[in-house]
Amino acid sequence: MGIDNLFQDDGLKRDLALIQLILEPHLESHLKRRLECSINPIPQKLYEAMSYGVLEGGKRLRAYLFLAALRLFSGSVHDKVLLDICCSIECLQAYSLIHDDLPGMDNSDLRRGKPSTHKAFDHHTAILAGSSLQNLAFEILSRLDLDAKKRCALIEVMSVATGPQGMMAGQQLDMDYELFNPDVSQKNIERMQYLKTASFFQGVLQSACIVFGADQNCLNEFGKLFGRLFQITDDMLDVTSSREKLGKPTQNDNDKKTLITELGLEGAHQECKTLKRKAQVILKSCGTDSKPLITLMNFLITRSS
Ligand code: IPE
Ligand code: IPE
Ligand code: MG
Ligand code: MG
Ligand code: MG
Repeated sequence: MGIDNLFQDDGLKRDLALIQLILEPHLESHLKRRLECSINPIPQKLYEAMSYGVLEGGKRLRAYLFLAALRLFSGSVHDKVLLDICCSIECLQAYSLIHDDLPGMDNSDLRRGKPSTHKAFDHHTAILAGSSLQNLAFEILSRLDLDAKKRCALIEVMSVATGPQGMMAGQQLDMDYELFNPDVSQKNIERMQYLKTASFFQGVLQSACIVFGADQNCLNEFGKLFGRLFQITDDMLDVTSSREKLGKPTQNDNDKKTLITELGLEGAHQECKTLKRKAQVILKSCGTDSKPLITLMNFLITRSS
């Protein structure tokens, strides 16, 4: 079973399970190789914490988004390159979650149905494992079997998207609003959501464009709408779902300002529908097979985990 078996109308759940199945050994071998190499191998404990944070868990939605976006364009790249990019994306995702859960940030004790990395190991190891996964993500991109121009472009878009002008900017605002500025405006909440969540999705979409040589920014507006839709549904689940279903704490955002505090649950749900409608219109002019991306949005709107 490989990437070719994806998006065959077997449903999103099956596609996500397949991505997890294909990705897991690739992620594992990236880590193992660096544990077993003779020069400066990863220390055992750091290796275990990195593996704990990135393996066996997560919905792998960003890997799905990357592969689904490729369906919009035509092109052909070796599966190994695509899987390596997915690994890099999921290392960045795992790193962001390990750090997001730390006591100095959201102070969450559960992630992906398991104790958060700083609970399973210790605080310093969680910080170092998160940082190491970030490094690994960019190392993987730098070694892709692609021409140098594309490799550099991928490293650039992913570092900007997840860095201090993107995801880190959003995380800074998220924490500062919670701690110091409870009266933040709806406009600023939307900007924070865009930065902390949508910019990473935009980086993933830009990566798909780069790989197939499409206009790098043609999916940016879609990514913005999609990312906001994603974060609003995540915030809604914090209110409506359970720790068991989500595999992470709920009612954890009670001191945070989200769109739910502004619009209420029903208002937030309506906002999601509006975002989806707008995103769907944009997709029509973006490429050919947009079905997997639309399926993903439909899942987000109705998801309970
Ligand atoms: C959680 O993302 C972080 C947010 C931006 C809300 P996911 O819900 O995609 O987390 P995993 O990767 O499936 O655990
Ligand atoms: C996290 O947002 C976004 C990141 C950039 C990691 P949340 O703090 O809402 O994510 P969860 O709910 O802990 O997964
Ligand atoms: Mg957070
Ligand atoms: Mg959090
Ligand atoms: Mg959340």
